[in-house]
Amino acid sequence: MKTKVLMVCLGNICRSPLAEGILESKVDPRQVLVDSAGTAGYHLGKSPDRRSIAVARKYGIAIEHQECRKFTDRDLDDFDFIYAMDRDNYRNILALAKSEAHRGKVKLLLQEVDLGIQEVPDPYYGGDDGFEHVFHMINTACETIANRLNQE
Ligand code: 4NP
Repeated sequence: MKTKVLMVCLGNICRSPLAEGILESKVDPRQVLVDSAGTAGYHLGKSPDRRSIAVARKYGIAIEHQECRKFTDRDLDDFDFIYAMDRDNYRNILALAKSEAHRGKVKLLLQEVDLGIQEVPDPYYGGDDGFEHVFHMINTACETIANRLNQE
C-alpha cells in the first residue's frame, strides 16, 4: 500500500501545489502518493498560479498539470499525513476531524524543520520574490519528509 500525503493551503493554487510537486520530486511514486487541496473553493478546477508554476519550473519541477480542488472530510480518512501550510488551514482541517486518528494525521508543514517560523506565508498578494521564498521553505520541509518516507 502506498503512503498517501496531502498538502493543504487556502486556495490550492500557490503554496500546496508547490508542496505537492516538490515532495513528489523527492519520493518513489511506486511507494508514495502526493496530492494537494485548498480549504477554500475559490479556484476549483484551475491550474496553479503562474508564479508558482514559474518558480517550480526554475527548479525543474512541473506543476502546471495540477487542478485545484477543495479539501473534504473524506481526505481525513484517505490520507496518512496531512500537512497544513498555516495555522488557519490547520484549524480548518481539524474542524472536520472526527477522531483522534484523524487529528493525529494533521501537522503544520514547518513543524518538520527548524526554520524559526511555523507558517508558510501566503504569497498570493505579494511579488515574485515571495514565491521564491516559500519554494525554499517548502523544499526544506519536504526534504525531511522525503528522507523519512524513503526509509520506510
Ligand atoms: P494559496 O494562496 O492558499 O497558497 O493557494 C492563495 C490563493 C488564492 C487566494 C488566497 C490565497 N485568494 O484569496 O483567492
